Amino acid sequence: MRLKDKVALISGASSGIGAAVARLFATEGARVIVTDIRENGGRQIEDIIRKDGGQAVFLKLDVTSEENWNRAVNDTVNQFGRLDILVNNAGMYQRATLDQTGVPDWDQVMELNAKGVFLGCRAVIPVMKRARSGCIVNMSSVSGLTGGSYSTAYNASKGAVRLLTKSIAVQYAAQGIRCNSVHPAPAETDMLVDVFPDQQSRSARIAEIPLGRFATAEEIAQCVLFLASDESSYVTGSELIVDGGLTAR
Ligand SMILES: NC(=O)c1ccc[n+]([C@@H]2O[C@H](COP(=O)([O-])OP(=O)(O)OC[C@H]3O[C@@H](n4cnc5c(N)ncnc54)[C@H](O)[C@@H]3O)[C@@H](O)[C@H]2O)c1
Repeated sequence: MRLKDKVALISGASSGIGAAVARLFATEGARVIVTDIRENGGRQIEDIIRKDGGQAVFLKLDVTSEENWNRAVNDTVNQFGRLDILVNNAGMYQRATLDQTGVPDWDQVMELNAKGVFLGCRAVIPVMKRARSGCIVNMSSVSGLTGGSYSTAYNASKGAVRLLTKSIAVQYAAQGIRCNSVHPAPAETDMLVDVFPDQQSRSARIAEIPLGRFATAEEIAQCVLFLASDESSYVTGSELIVDGGLTAR
């Protein structure tokens, strides 16, 4: 098992990529803290993992709240005595060009996608420093690497995640903490409804992907697993692109 006895907290784990990561981590022997702002969905994932023979607890966590983060990290450490892995996965998409983006729209996306990751990293660093080991995986996107034709704040927020990740990697490597980002192209989750409102825009994007299809949430989860496991012990500050060849053109 690749994560045997590790304790892993995953944000936004009630659906999509976060749920796939939580389930995969549990099958690899991790004790998983399933967190989400949505309690019902989070408890369902907790149930599924337990029925599959894995270990999971659900904690309600709004990633935009510093108080929520401190409570979640304290509860985890009180219950398990450690916190080895943080996956900052919670996020939202917003389809809007610059002139369609109002200040409240910008603030909403930056608050969740960028500040949420900052708060998560800041909450776990003291615990990981004490342990002199730890691993953070931040969910960015191909939108954090390239400009968007129809998204603005989303790309800015995912670009922020990319460089926040590298700063953390540089600052805490000496304390045994690794930090990497993952950059998926579109993956088949609930979020895609917001990204591609109609079949035409969906088909146009698929046509740009050399592998000719969108990813599954499970395919993204496998890449998160690699970065969270000791197999990537020499990998920090890197960006793992999982895009079917989209940005290779
Ligand atoms: N699906 C894609 O095409 C794609 C591509 C690249 C990157 N991503 C990124 O992957 C991550 C997961 O997205 P997904 O595709 O699984 O979408 P999703 O909508 O299925 O999952 C997002 C999760 O975040 C949770 N969430 C929303 N606001 C929250 C908050 N304030 N606090 C805690 N949780 C909150 C939601 O309840 C949900 O469970 C996001 O960061 C997204 O930007 C997705």
